[in-house]
Amino acid sequence: MNMASTGILLFIFTVLYISAGNAKKDFINVQCKTENVGQYGQQSLLECVIQTGKDVTDAQILVVTWKKQGDEGPLLVFNRGVTKHQPGFSFAEPSWNNRNMNVSLLITSTAVVHKGVYTCVVMTDSGDGSKSTSLEVTAKYNVPTIQSTPKSITPNTDCTLTCESNGGYPKGQLRWFDQDNKDWTKSSKMETKLTESGLFHLSSKLSLLRGSVFSKYTCVVFNASGGKEDEATFEVLKEPETREGVPKGSASKIVAPLVVIGSLITGLLIALLFYRRRSKQTRRHSTAPLMGDHQGVCTNESDAEEGGHQEMDTKCRDSLA
Ligand SMILES: *[C@@H]1O[C@H](CO)[C@@H](O)[C@H](O)[C@H]1NC(C)=O
Ligand SMILES: *[C@@H]1O[C@H](CO)[C@@H](O)[C@H](O)[C@H]1NC(C)=O
Repeated sequence: MNMASTGILLFIFTVLYISAGNAKKDFINVQCKTENVGQYGQQSLLECVIQTGKDVTDAQILVVTWKKQGDEGPLLVFNRGVTKHQPGFSFAEPSWNNRNMNVSLLITSTAVVHKGVYTCVVMTDSGDGSKSTSLEVTAKYNVPTIQSTPKSITPNTDCTLTCESNGGYPKGQLRWFDQDNKDWTKSSKMETKLTESGLFHLSSKLSLLRGSVFSKYTCVVFNASGGKEDEATFEVLKEPETREGVPKGSASKIVAPLVVIGSLITGLLIALLFYRRRSKQTRRHSTAPLMGDHQGVCTNESDAEEGGHQEMDTKCRDSLA
């Protein structure tokens, strides 16, 4: 064989090898759910599976890398038998091994910072592949609270209602309605604060002028996609007179039984004190005349062996000594 034919053979082999490799690559396909939604504080799953062509049986995974766009290092790496990961990230499959084609990533406790685009790169003995997938994070807003300034209001006072709701994501909205479901949001002013955890704190102030105050206001918190999440209601006291009358009436309802119970207890205490004093007195009465005859008392008491009279017994001994 001359040099030329050897060269040609080499060339042919190289071409065959490369095309075989390329063909092999086509047998591997990483399929991911394109959109994943995670709940704040809960587990999130970024679902990806490796799909192999019909001709590939028993493919072995050599490398899996999960990386978040914008991050320096990877979150999870499996490289020839060894898995390394950052805390809070793992394979979703509990006992994952290099023959398990489900390479989904599990985030243990979802935070707002986990929002973003993730890429999964896979290398197998039958070819390589990669795919990106995104994670959205949502957090439900807390039940709103309404406070009024001043504390108690009537239709005849100027006042401000402040509605607050915390701990939601993405940015939501607070809206105001009166008892007829008329929207008063335009008359309100909403402020949004980003808390340390990355969640939003919403607060909205609705100013009410005297004479134009309705009997009931509802503050509704809506999530980012306009879905109603929760609400709170504030009732305006109808008339100042009845307002002052009601607590008095209800107070006397509470006071009356208290007085009865109180006098009962006092009576019992007095009776008890009276009884105790009387029994003491009777004791003293019985002691007094006996004090003159010391010996008589002591012998009498010790003979009787009455536990209840031990105190007297000692006193007696003291006076004897
Ligand atoms: C991948 O594994 C996770 C965790 O076990 C599971 O929830 C998910 O359904 C699996 N996906 C597929 C396509 O099998
Ligand atoms: C908003 O609320 C609706 C209704 O409760 C819900 O279906 C939707 O998923 C929520 N959207 C977000 C972004 O939280």
